[in-house]
Amino acid sequence: MTDRYCVFGHPVGHSKSPAIHADFADQVGDDIEYVATEAPLDDFAGAWRRFVAEGGRGANVTVPFKEQAFRLCDTLSERARRAGAVNTLILGDDGETRGDTTDGIGLVRDLERHGVALAGARILVLGAGGAVRGVLEPLLAQGPASLRVANRTAAKAEALAVDFRDLGAIVGGGFEAVEGPYDLVINGTSASLAGDLPPLPDDLFTPRATAHDMMYGAEPTVFLHWAAERGAQTVDGLGMLVEQAAESFFQWRGRRPDTAPVLERLRQAL
Ligand code: ATR
Repeated sequence: MTDRYCVFGHPVGHSKSPAIHADFADQVGDDIEYVATEAPLDDFAGAWRRFVAEGGRGANVTVPFKEQAFRLCDTLSERARRAGAVNTLILGDDGETRGDTTDGIGLVRDLERHGVALAGARILVLGAGGAVRGVLEPLLAQGPASLRVANRTAAKAEALAVDFRDLGAIVGGGFEAVEGPYDLVINGTSASLAGDLPPLPDDLFTPRATAHDMMYGAEPTVFLHWAAERGAQTVDGLGMLVEQAAESFFQWRGRRPDTAPVLERLRQAL
């Protein structure tokens, strides 16, 4: 029987994951089915159980189910435990459900692909919501010199830093505490959606700095536009999307697809 996978979301019709995983499967010669499934808002666990009963082997999980998915897992990866959320469910041969979150490692791989050195870097992360919590463990594992989390609501950034301080040199605060220059600035706020730019000083970047935005679109986000004007290399979130998918695929299939051609196709379709 064909192994079945899906992405659960609500809504989920816009998801690029089915196309990405179809590309990966073609590339490695695997015969899998991967569809988008809208789960009911109040019963994610039931949707996963039904999917497993129908031959489901694994799933990606997107908004708003990442925390509900976290709660149903029998076992969790360390990075998922730290994130408090999962974006990947894996059904083991023993019938147990394992949870992982691949967003952070996806971000790290995409930055590496752009030649960004994370070990020893001074990093600034903007935002303190679920998107940021999901990437801190893999970022700190790369051994940055320092990592500051800055958020509109300073207390949220401070609390987040406390949760991760056993993993490295992390501090949190408001935007007013930002003191450049940084080698890498990652925008994990949803400010770009509103066309907003967090208040940031002009001397934010070192000469060869990189600015990353977890969001993407046909045009650069407001933040990336601002960063490019100040000389930073800019990277949007499309590569992170493809890399997190590749890591999920690897967790399920044990094979690592080549992400470059898949990213290229998505970029052209934006
Ligand atoms: P996500 O799961 O995408 O992280 P979230 O948990 O709602 O979503 O977090 C959104 C993040 O974007 C928060 O850090 C939020 O700041 P607050 O904690 O102060 O709300 C940030 N954010 C949203 N809109 C923003 C804006 N216009 N300017 C600056 N930060 C903004």
